[in-house]
Amino acid sequence: MKIEKELTTCQDFNNMVVQYYAEVIKLLEKHHIKTHLGFQGHPEGTISYLLVMNYLEIVRRTTEVKTQSDKVFTGSDVGKMRQYFNGLFESEIDYSKALIDMGCGGPDWKDTYWTKLPKVIGLELNYLRLLEARKVFPDEKKVELVFSPTGMTDFPDNSIPQVLSSAIITSVTPNIAQLHLRECWRILEPKGKLIIARVQTKSLKNIIKGGTFTEFNGVYGAFNQVLSKKEFCSLVDKCCPNNKWVKFKKMGFRLPLIPAQIKHDMYDWKYFKYLDAFINAVIPHMAIHFLAVIEKQ
Ligand SMILES: C[S@@+](CC[C@H](N)C(=O)[O-])C[C@H]1O[C@@H](n2cnc3c(N)ncnc32)[C@H](O)[C@@H]1O
Repeated sequence: MKIEKELTTCQDFNNMVVQYYAEVIKLLEKHHIKTHLGFQGHPEGTISYLLVMNYLEIVRRTTEVKTQSDKVFTGSDVGKMRQYFNGLFESEIDYSKALIDMGCGGPDWKDTYWTKLPKVIGLELNYLRLLEARKVFPDEKKVELVFSPTGMTDFPDNSIPQVLSSAIITSVTPNIAQLHLRECWRILEPKGKLIIARVQTKSLKNIIKGGTFTEFNGVYGAFNQVLSKKEFCSLVDKCCPNNKWVKFKKMGFRLPLIPAQIKHDMYDWKYFKYLDAFINAVIPHMAIHFLAVIEKQ
Protein backbone atom coordinates (compact mmCIF):
# COMPACT_ATOMS: atom_id res chain seq x y z
CA MET A 1 0.00 0.00 0.00
CA LYS A 2 2.83 2.34 0.98
CA ILE A 3 4.62 1.62 -2.29
CA GLU A 4 1.46 2.32 -4.28
CA LYS A 5 1.10 5.72 -2.64
CA GLU A 6 4.67 6.57 -3.43
CA LEU A 7 4.39 5.57 -7.06
CA THR A 8 2.36 8.46 -8.29
CA THR A 9 3.46 8.56 -11.89
CA CYS A 10 4.54 6.11 -14.52
CA GLN A 11 7.96 7.71 -14.44
CA ASP A 12 8.43 6.66 -10.78
CA PHE A 13 7.40 3.18 -11.66
CA ASN A 14 9.69 3.11 -14.67
CA ASN A 15 12.65 4.26 -12.54
CA MET A 16 11.96 1.61 -9.92
CA VAL A 17 11.96 -1.17 -12.50
CA VAL A 18 15.08 0.16 -14.19
CA GLN A 19 16.79 0.14 -10.78
CA TYR A 20 15.61 -3.39 -10.07
CA TYR A 21 16.88 -4.67 -13.41
CA ALA A 22 19.92 -2.33 -13.61
CA GLU A 23 22.56 -5.07 -13.48
CA VAL A 24 20.66 -7.25 -15.93
CA ILE A 25 20.12 -4.38 -18.37
CA LYS A 26 23.87 -3.56 -18.26
CA LEU A 27 24.86 -7.18 -18.83
CA LEU A 28 22.42 -7.49 -21.73
CA GLU A 29 23.69 -4.28 -23.33
CA LYS A 30 27.18 -5.76 -23.32
CA HIS A 31 25.79 -8.60 -25.43
CA HIS A 32 23.85 -6.22 -27.70
CA ILE A 33 20.50 -7.20 -26.23
CA LYS A 34 18.05 -4.32 -25.82
CA THR A 35 15.53 -3.83 -23.03
CA HIS A 36 11.96 -2.68 -23.66
CA LEU A 37 9.97 -1.63 -20.65
CA GLY A 38 6.80 -1.09 -22.65
CA PHE A 39 5.01 1.04 -20.10
CA GLN A 40 3.46 3.55 -22.47
CA GLY A 41 -0.28 3.44 -22.71
CA HIS A 42 -0.79 0.95 -19.88
CA PRO A 43 -2.11 1.77 -16.41
CA GLU A 44 0.35 1.14 -13.58
CA GLY A 45 -1.89 -1.59 -12.16
CA THR A 46 -1.59 -3.54 -15.42
CA ILE A 47 2.16 -3.10 -15.52
CA SER A 48 2.57 -4.21 -11.88
CA TYR A 49 0.47 -7.30 -12.61
CA LEU A 50 2.56 -8.12 -15.68
CA LEU A 51 5.82 -7.60 -13.84
CA VAL A 52 4.86 -9.83 -10.92
CA MET A 53 3.36 -12.62 -13.03
CA ASN A 54 6.16 -12.52 -15.58
CA TYR A 55 8.80 -12.52 -12.87
CA LEU A 56 7.25 -15.75 -11.54
CA GLU A 57 7.23 -17.11 -15.08
CA ILE A 58 10.94 -16.37 -15.51
CA VAL A 59 11.77 -18.13 -12.23
CA ARG A 60 9.67 -21.14 -13.16
CA ARG A 61 11.05 -21.40 -16.67
CA THR A 62 14.63 -21.02 -15.54
CA THR A 63 14.31 -24.10 -13.32
CA GLU A 64 12.30 -25.99 -15.93
CA VAL A 65 14.79 -25.37 -18.74
CA LYS A 66 17.56 -26.84 -16.59
CA THR A 67 15.73 -30.10 -16.06
CA GLN A 68 13.89 -30.60 -19.32
CA SER A 69 14.99 -30.55 -22.91
CA ASP A 70 12.78 -30.05 -25.91
CA LYS A 71 15.08 -32.33 -27.86
CA VAL A 72 13.97 -35.55 -26.18
CA PHE A 73 10.70 -37.43 -26.18
CA THR A 74 9.53 -36.54 -22.73
CA GLY A 75 6.12 -35.05 -23.34
CA SER A 76 3.32 -34.71 -25.83
CA ASP A 77 4.73 -31.66 -27.54
CA VAL A 78 8.39 -32.35 -28.21
CA GLY A 79 10.57 -34.19 -30.70
CA LYS A 80 8.94 -35.17 -34.01
CA MET A 81 5.54 -33.83 -33.00
CA ARG A 82 7.08 -30.49 -32.29
CA GLN A 83 8.93 -30.47 -35.59
CA TYR A 84 5.67 -31.24 -37.38
CA PHE A 85 3.76 -28.42 -35.64
CA ASN A 86 6.59 -25.96 -36.22
CA GLY A 87 6.75 -26.98 -39.90
CA LEU A 88 3.07 -26.02 -40.29
CA PHE A 89 3.48 -22.49 -38.93
CA GLU A 90 6.84 -22.02 -40.62
CA SER A 91 5.13 -22.49 -43.98
CA GLU A 92 2.92 -19.47 -43.19
CA ILE A 93 5.90 -17.10 -42.73
CA ASP A 94 6.81 -14.65 -45.51
CA TYR A 95 10.57 -15.12 -45.84
CA SER A 96 11.06 -11.82 -47.65
CA LYS A 97 10.03 -9.72 -44.64
CA ALA A 98 11.16 -9.06 -41.08
CA LEU A 99 9.40 -10.92 -38.27
CA ILE A 100 9.04 -10.46 -34.54
CA ASP A 101 8.91 -13.67 -32.51
CA MET A 102 7.01 -12.71 -29.36
CA GLY A 103 8.12 -14.95 -26.47
CA CYS A 104 10.78 -16.58 -28.61
CA GLY A 105 12.49 -18.77 -26.02
CA GLY A 106 16.20 -19.39 -26.63
CA PRO A 107 18.47 -20.49 -29.46
CA ASP A 108 16.26 -23.36 -30.66
CA TRP A 109 15.50 -21.84 -34.05
CA LYS A 110 19.08 -21.85 -35.29
CA ASP A 111 18.45 -24.47 -37.97
CA THR A 112 14.94 -23.39 -38.89
CA TYR A 113 12.96 -20.22 -39.62
CA TRP A 114 15.16 -17.57 -37.95
CA THR A 115 18.07 -18.23 -40.30
CA LYS A 116 15.85 -17.95 -43.39
CA LEU A 117 14.50 -14.48 -42.59
CA PRO A 118 16.15 -11.18 -43.61
CA LYS A 119 15.64 -9.88 -40.05
CA VAL A 120 14.25 -11.33 -36.83
CA ILE A 121 13.36 -9.63 -33.58
CA GLY A 122 13.28 -12.12 -30.72
CA LEU A 123 11.42 -10.81 -27.67
CA GLU A 124 11.64 -12.72 -24.38
CA LEU A 125 10.96 -12.30 -20.67
CA ASN A 126 13.63 -14.78 -19.71
CA TYR A 127 16.89 -12.93 -20.34
CA LEU A 128 18.99 -16.07 -19.73
CA ARG A 129 17.42 -17.57 -22.85
CA LEU A 130 18.34 -14.40 -24.78
CA LEU A 131 21.95 -14.66 -23.66
CA GLU A 132 22.00 -18.25 -24.97
CA ALA A 133 20.42 -17.06 -28.22
CA ARG A 134 23.03 -14.31 -28.68
CA LYS A 135 25.80 -16.95 -28.64
CA VAL A 136 24.16 -18.73 -31.55
CA PHE A 137 23.06 -15.56 -33.40
CA PRO A 138 25.97 -13.11 -33.03
CA ASP A 139 24.84 -10.80 -35.89
CA GLU A 140 22.87 -8.16 -34.00
CA LYS A 141 21.69 -6.46 -37.22
CA LYS A 142 20.06 -9.62 -38.50
CA VAL A 143 18.86 -10.88 -35.13
CA GLU A 144 17.70 -8.16 -32.76
CA LEU A 145 17.16 -9.56 -29.27
CA VAL A 146 14.88 -7.73 -26.86
CA PHE A 147 14.39 -8.38 -23.16
CA SER A 148 10.99 -7.29 -21.94
CA PRO A 149 10.11 -7.86 -18.28
CA THR A 150 6.47 -7.04 -19.06
CA GLY A 151 6.06 -8.86 -22.40
CA MET A 152 5.10 -5.46 -23.89
CA THR A 153 7.33 -3.59 -26.35
CA ASP A 154 8.49 -0.05 -27.12
CA PHE A 155 7.90 -0.48 -30.86
CA PRO A 156 5.58 2.11 -32.44
CA ASP A 157 2.08 1.21 -33.63
CA ASN A 158 1.87 -0.44 -37.08
CA SER A 159 5.65 -0.88 -37.41
CA ILE A 160 6.36 -4.62 -37.82
CA PRO A 161 5.55 -6.53 -41.05
CA GLN A 162 4.77 -9.90 -39.41
CA VAL A 163 4.33 -11.16 -35.89
CA LEU A 164 4.63 -14.70 -34.53
CA SER A 165 3.10 -15.86 -31.26
CA SER A 166 3.95 -19.53 -30.80
CA ALA A 167 2.88 -21.41 -27.67
CA ILE A 168 2.12 -18.26 -25.68
CA ILE A 169 -1.58 -17.64 -25.24
CA THR A 170 -2.37 -20.94 -23.52
CA SER A 171 0.86 -20.81 -21.49
CA VAL A 172 -0.04 -17.60 -19.66
CA THR A 173 -2.99 -16.37 -17.61
CA PRO A 174 -6.11 -15.24 -19.53
CA ASN A 175 -5.43 -11.58 -18.71
CA ILE A 176 -1.87 -11.80 -19.97
CA ALA A 177 -3.03 -13.68 -23.08
CA GLN A 178 -5.28 -10.71 -23.92
CA LEU A 179 -2.58 -8.11 -23.28
CA HIS A 180 -0.12 -10.16 -25.32
CA LEU A 181 -2.48 -10.44 -28.29
CA ARG A 182 -3.34 -6.73 -28.16
CA GLU A 183 0.38 -5.90 -28.18
CA CYS A 184 1.04 -8.24 -31.14
CA TRP A 185 -1.80 -6.48 -33.00
CA ARG A 186 -0.75 -2.95 -32.04
CA ILE A 187 2.75 -3.27 -33.49
CA LEU A 188 1.69 -5.15 -36.63
CA GLU A 189 1.67 -3.16 -39.89
CA PRO A 190 -1.63 -2.85 -41.79
CA LYS A 191 -1.84 -5.76 -44.28
CA GLY A 192 0.69 -7.56 -42.08
CA LYS A 193 -0.01 -11.02 -40.68
CA LEU A 194 -0.15 -12.28 -37.13
CA ILE A 195 0.61 -16.02 -36.93
CA ILE A 196 -0.74 -17.61 -33.75
CA ALA A 197 0.57 -21.13 -33.39
CA ARG A 198 0.36 -23.97 -30.90
CA VAL A 199 -2.72 -22.90 -29.00
CA GLN A 200 -3.67 -25.75 -26.67
CA THR A 201 -7.19 -26.95 -27.54
CA LYS A 202 -9.98 -28.02 -25.28
CA SER A 203 -10.24 -31.79 -25.73
CA LEU A 204 -13.19 -34.11 -25.31
CA LYS A 205 -11.83 -34.98 -21.86
CA ASN A 206 -11.93 -31.31 -20.79
CA ILE A 207 -15.44 -30.94 -22.15
CA ILE A 208 -16.71 -34.05 -20.32
CA LYS A 209 -15.07 -32.76 -17.15
CA GLY A 210 -17.02 -29.52 -17.70
CA GLY A 211 -13.91 -27.44 -18.39
CA THR A 212 -14.50 -23.72 -18.18
CA PHE A 213 -12.77 -21.00 -20.17
CA THR A 214 -9.43 -22.07 -18.79
CA GLU A 215 -7.82 -24.92 -16.98
CA PHE A 216 -5.49 -23.29 -14.55
CA ASN A 217 -4.05 -26.17 -12.61
CA GLY A 218 -2.48 -24.13 -9.88
CA VAL A 219 0.82 -23.94 -11.74
CA TYR A 220 1.62 -20.90 -13.80
CA GLY A 221 2.80 -21.50 -17.35
CA ALA A 222 3.33 -24.24 -19.94
CA PHE A 223 0.00 -25.23 -21.44
CA ASN A 224 -2.04 -25.09 -18.29
CA GLN A 225 -4.89 -23.57 -20.21
CA VAL A 226 -7.10 -24.75 -23.01
CA LEU A 227 -9.44 -23.00 -25.43
CA SER A 228 -12.31 -24.26 -27.56
CA LYS A 229 -12.46 -23.05 -31.16
CA LYS A 230 -15.23 -20.61 -30.22
CA GLU A 231 -13.28 -19.23 -27.24
CA PHE A 232 -10.12 -18.87 -29.30
CA CYS A 233 -11.92 -17.08 -32.15
CA SER A 234 -13.71 -14.67 -29.83
CA LEU A 235 -10.48 -13.94 -27.93
CA VAL A 236 -8.73 -13.07 -31.21
CA ASP A 237 -11.66 -10.99 -32.47
CA LYS A 238 -11.77 -9.07 -29.17
CA CYS A 239 -8.03 -8.31 -29.06
CA CYS A 240 -7.38 -7.88 -32.79
CA PRO A 241 -10.05 -5.58 -34.27
CA ASN A 242 -10.38 -5.03 -38.04
CA ASN A 243 -9.00 -8.44 -38.78
CA LYS A 244 -9.34 -10.87 -41.64
CA TRP A 245 -8.92 -14.56 -40.86
CA VAL A 246 -6.58 -15.94 -43.52
CA LYS A 247 -6.21 -19.41 -42.02
CA PHE A 248 -7.58 -21.49 -39.20
CA LYS A 249 -6.26 -25.00 -38.75
CA LYS A 250 -6.29 -27.80 -36.22
CA MET A 251 -2.94 -29.51 -35.75
CA GLY A 252 -2.35 -33.05 -34.47
CA PHE A 253 -4.81 -35.31 -32.70
CA ARG A 254 -4.93 -37.00 -29.33
CA LEU A 255 -4.64 -40.78 -29.12
CA PRO A 256 -4.94 -41.53 -25.41
CA LEU A 257 -4.22 -45.28 -25.49
CA ILE A 258 -1.29 -45.29 -27.90
CA PRO A 259 2.27 -45.31 -26.44
CA ALA A 260 4.12 -41.98 -26.74
CA GLN A 261 6.95 -43.36 -28.89
CA ILE A 262 4.52 -44.70 -31.50
CA LYS A 263 2.64 -41.38 -31.56
CA HIS A 264 5.85 -39.47 -32.09
CA ASP A 265 6.96 -41.77 -34.91
CA MET A 266 3.63 -41.26 -36.67
CA TYR A 267 4.30 -37.51 -36.90
CA ASP A 268 7.39 -38.25 -38.95
CA TRP A 269 5.44 -40.18 -41.60
CA LYS A 270 5.53 -38.58 -45.07
CA TYR A 271 1.73 -38.58 -45.48
CA PHE A 272 0.88 -37.71 -41.87
CA LYS A 273 -0.45 -34.25 -42.76
CA TYR A 274 -3.22 -35.84 -44.88
CA LEU A 275 -4.21 -38.19 -42.06
CA ASP A 276 -4.13 -35.23 -39.66
CA ALA A 277 -6.39 -33.12 -41.89
CA PHE A 278 -8.79 -36.06 -42.36
CA ILE A 279 -9.10 -36.88 -38.64
CA ASN A 280 -9.58 -33.24 -37.72
CA ALA A 281 -12.21 -32.79 -40.42
CA VAL A 282 -14.35 -35.76 -39.37
CA ILE A 283 -13.87 -36.01 -35.58
CA PRO A 284 -14.27 -32.84 -33.53
CA HIS A 285 -12.35 -32.27 -30.28
CA MET A 286 -9.42 -34.55 -31.13
CA ALA A 287 -6.99 -31.74 -32.09
CA ILE A 288 -3.96 -30.86 -29.98
CA HIS A 289 -3.32 -27.32 -31.23
CA PHE A 290 -4.89 -24.51 -33.24
CA LEU A 291 -3.00 -22.48 -35.80
CA ALA A 292 -4.35 -19.16 -37.08
CA VAL A 293 -3.13 -16.53 -39.51
CA ILE A 294 -4.84 -13.15 -39.10
CA GLU A 295 -4.36 -10.19 -41.41
CA LYS A 296 -4.66 -6.60 -40.15
CA GLN A 297 -7.02 -4.58 -42.35
C1 LIG B 1 5.97 -22.32 -24.10
S1 LIG B 1 7.28 -21.17 -24.36
C2 LIG B 1 7.24 -20.98 -26.10
C3 LIG B 1 8.56 -20.57 -26.66
C4 LIG B 1 8.59 -20.50 -28.18
N1 LIG B 1 7.79 -19.40 -28.69
C5 LIG B 1 8.14 -21.81 -28.78
O1 LIG B 1 7.25 -21.83 -29.63
O2 LIG B 1 8.71 -22.85 -28.40
C6 LIG B 1 6.56 -19.68 -23.79
C7 LIG B 1 7.55 -18.52 -23.82
O3 LIG B 1 6.83 -17.30 -23.71
C8 LIG B 1 7.50 -16.44 -22.83
N2 LIG B 1 6.43 -15.59 -22.30
C9 LIG B 1 5.70 -15.81 -21.20
N3 LIG B 1 4.82 -14.79 -21.03
C10 LIG B 1 5.01 -13.93 -22.05
C11 LIG B 1 4.42 -12.68 -22.43
N4 LIG B 1 3.49 -12.11 -21.69
N5 LIG B 1 4.86 -12.08 -23.54
C12 LIG B 1 5.80 -12.64 -24.29
N6 LIG B 1 6.41 -13.81 -23.97
C13 LIG B 1 6.02 -14.45 -22.88
C14 LIG B 1 8.17 -17.35 -21.82
O4 LIG B 1 9.28 -16.74 -21.23
C15 LIG B 1 8.57 -18.55 -22.69
O5 LIG B 1 9.83 -18.44 -23.25
